[in-house]
Amino acid sequence: MVCSPPIHEVYAAVDLLQRVGPLPFAVPHAMVQTAFPGESHHDVTCDSSGAYWAPNDDKQNTQLDIAHHIDFADEHPYAEVIGTDLSLIQPSFVPPNLQFVIDDACEYWIYPKSHSDYIHTRTLYGAIADWSQFYRKALKHLRPGGFFEQLEMSIQFRLDDGTLPDDHVLKIWSKTMIEASEKLGKTFRIAEFAAGYMRNASFHNVVERRFKLPVGLWSIDKKLKSLGTWNQVHCEHGIEGWAMALLTRVMKVSVIDSHYMLVPNAQGLRDPDVHAYFEVVAVYGQKPMHAI
Ligand SMILES: C[S@@+](CC[C@H](N)C(=O)[O-])C[C@H]1O[C@@H](n2cnc3c(N)ncnc32)[C@H](O)[C@@H]1O
Repeated sequence: MVCSPPIHEVYAAVDLLQRVGPLPFAVPHAMVQTAFPGESHHDVTCDSSGAYWAPNDDKQNTQLDIAHHIDFADEHPYAEVIGTDLSLIQPSFVPPNLQFVIDDACEYWIYPKSHSDYIHTRTLYGAIADWSQFYRKALKHLRPGGFFEQLEMSIQFRLDDGTLPDDHVLKIWSKTMIEASEKLGKTFRIAEFAAGYMRNASFHNVVERRFKLPVGLWSIDKKLKSLGTWNQVHCEHGIEGWAMALLTRVMKVSVIDSHYMLVPNAQGLRDPDVHAYFEVVAVYGQKPMHAI
């Protein structure tokens, strides 16, 4: 994607961003890069086809590293583990029983049918257009009795001790991002619907567990406070990358205006008076023993 806003707008916005105080993210490299007419936009496409809304550059991969580690293969040395993604973002130094392959989960699954003991997906919100088809495929490739498990994050900010006013930046943020995903045709609200989809796809013994993931340091619970601190870093590191493609391409907001939105949003994440959290939803279910 090529973006070249007028250079004075770029520098005015950079100046504004720098004056509002310590930035939660680095001076937006997207804007600095777009200052050179004809130069490509910050790597807002996650892969060469642009099928996914988040970038796959070093900055975003660091945000993913903050969010989790890949350790399944280490914990299950006798399992043959295959990790798939649209692009090779994973580390190259991996255990011998693990291989990463580039594969689009929305395309035909080349793996044997009725074969896998366990299929796991994590945070594919906004990545899949046809979730019903996705669960049917997972069911088809599991062996009878095998388990499918999914971990998703709701991007709806929630509070237990009040409600966010409609004009609060965090409320507008969730609403805008969810609307963008619906417009894109790849909903962000899969955490909310995963269990229902799995039951509809004929999974048995579907279990859903919901966890609170605070944003910020507000919790008096030691564990939640620690999680909230990491999540704050995760969000501040990721927010620019999460937003840019959806705001500019889907919602048709200019690059400059997108950055104007990011600053109050990032500051809203630090608001000590807002005790916000996301819900992380883990859902698992089993392929019936009699199924083929
Ligand atoms: C939020 S990241 C989570 C990364 C990974 N699932 C994990 O938990 O470590 C979402 C990832 O899904 C990948 N992705 C998006 N659409 C995909 C698709 N259709 N097939 C395979 N991977 C996809 C993206 O490239 C991105 O790396």
